[in-house]
Amino acid sequence: MRKTILITGASSGIGRATAKLFAEKGWNVAATMRAPKEETELKELPNLKLYELDVTRKEHLQKIIPEVEADFPKIDVLFNNAGYGAVGAFEKSSEEDVLQQFQVNVFGVMDLCREFIPYFRMKGEGMIINTSSVVGRFTIPLYSLYCSSKWALEGFTEALQFELRKFNIKVKLLEPAAIKTDFHGRSLKIFDNESVKGYEKMEKAIFSGMRSRNEKAPGPEVVAKTVFKAVTDGSQKLRYPTGKGASAVLLARKILPTSWFNKILLKQQNRRS
Ligand SMILES: NC(=O)c1ccc[n+]([C@@H]2O[C@H](COP(=O)([O-])OP(=O)(O)OC[C@H]3O[C@@H](n4cnc5c(N)ncnc54)[C@H](OP(=O)(O)O)[C@@H]3O)[C@@H](O)[C@H]2O)c1
Repeated sequence: MRKTILITGASSGIGRATAKLFAEKGWNVAATMRAPKEETELKELPNLKLYELDVTRKEHLQKIIPEVEADFPKIDVLFNNAGYGAVGAFEKSSEEDVLQQFQVNVFGVMDLCREFIPYFRMKGEGMIINTSSVVGRFTIPLYSLYCSSKWALEGFTEALQFELRKFNIKVKLLEPAAIKTDFHGRSLKIFDNESVKGYEKMEKAIFSGMRSRNEKAPGPEVVAKTVFKAVTDGSQKLRYPTGKGASAVLLARKILPTSWFNKILLKQQNRRS
């Protein structure tokens, strides 16, 4: 029997590339997105169906499993991919910026896991893949909200893996490095509080460095392949670094003292700017 993967944020980037790859590999794909009516290309793929899902809307989360089960026999994998970056000096952010960042990147994932855990337990098996980032394990100035949302996801996912192993539910973390998607376009919200001064030089250096790294980065197909590996390798492995330099930077983070690691990182960022 064909297996089924449900993907959040499948309208763009990593989610979209993953939807295409799994459809190509013969999987059923439940490609969820905020605006399925605007999607024209994906719906032409065999065994792929579109569903409306905004991860911040409880009414969408609560009906997604029955909606997908009306089309496909069973859901085997939940791929929590949807996310965005709320960036800029923390001093410039509002309480709403903080809440929204966590609502999408963290609480949306937790809420969907809350829907799927009893479902997977009932089926006797399942898999959850949450999308963190390499910056789920280190930080970058001006990315305090984004980094803390991904750090939260790392802690959540690691603990969940311990809890769910005995129910035959695998839990995994995807840790992409820079990937060329629309993340620095549609998915970047830069705080625009112009009354706060003093960060201009840092903003110029960090944002231009991140943009140029993103331009030179590999496309989302690389990450889609890693998701396919995570789903099919049969292992209990938790973390899947992916993209250029992801494994190397995370190894350096693991073995170097934090002060050395941060010094090297800042030096590289300054050199790029
Ligand atoms: N690109 C990178 O360098 C990079 C690196 C590390 C980690 N990541 C992570 O990878 C994931 C995918 O990002 P991407 O690079 O593929 O960027 P992207 O092309 O901009 O895709 C982001 C996706 O998230 C969706 N989304 C945002 N808010 C949502 C909500 N409330 N409900 C449902 N969907 C929502 C977007 O939907 P709309 O089309 O409706 O806006 C879009 O489909 C994110 O979690 C991101 O943090 C990316």
